[in-house]
Amino acid sequence: MEERLISKAVISRLPVYLRYLGELKDEGVEKISSKELSDLMHVTASQIRQDLNNFGGFGQQGYGYNVSNLYNEIGRILGLDRRYNMILIGAGNLGSALSGYQSFENRGFSFKAIFDSNHKLVGDSIRNIPIMDINVMPAFLENNKIDIAVIAIPKTAAVSVVDTLVKCGIKAIWNFSHVDLDVPEDVVVENVHLSESLMRLSYNINERVKEGAE
Ligand code: NAI
Repeated sequence: MEERLISKAVISRLPVYLRYLGELKDEGVEKISSKELSDLMHVTASQIRQDLNNFGGFGQQGYGYNVSNLYNEIGRILGLDRRYNMILIGAGNLGSALSGYQSFENRGFSFKAIFDSNHKLVGDSIRNIPIMDINVMPAFLENNKIDIAVIAIPKTAAVSVVDTLVKCGIKAIWNFSHVDLDVPEDVVVENVHLSESLMRLSYNINERVKEGAE
């Protein structure tokens, strides 16, 4: 299927479509109209049609969408039809939670090693994923094909560790450290800031409070 240049807004909605379609698939639903999908997702049917038309549209007039086909196609567009090898930098609170989460594995994202500078953690493991000394990371990367590096270390340390990762050929970074990374153009970075999501929640709480007071 031919794909055009897709806006970031559409791409950010694709994982949401995938989540709902996955649930429908698990419930054994075979087809769904854009109206039914829109009721479920609380977005307009025209938004759904517009979004999916970016990829040539998957629906058939009078039939709706085949849930399983649409799920597979969106998964393919999101690159979920392959597996990714990942390493994690930082085995602290956040790193332990990320590497302990089995569902990433089920989606095709597999942690192969964890690196930390704290010698008390080195030699240990999380879900059988070994925690190694950060100093051996370049050698590990030379001998293992790693697609994604996950950064869960303090921002003071992140910049130099990311420099090393880039020098070792890493092309994708999932960054949880609160620092803007300056990387070459051929390296993709996805920043995650949970506190921004919390701030959006606090904004919405306060909007509700204001509405109630009017
Ligand atoms: P933590 O202190 O529990 O863990 C940090 C780990 O990084 C420690 O094990 C430490 O030994 C290791 N470390 C420090 N320097 C290192 C280096 N140069 N190389 C390898 N390992 C190194 O901290 P926590 O709570 O896990 O947070 C980690 C980072 O993630 C912090 O910068 C925090 O601000 C950030 N964070 C971001 C969130 C987000 O939504 N983006 C949410 C929570 C934390």
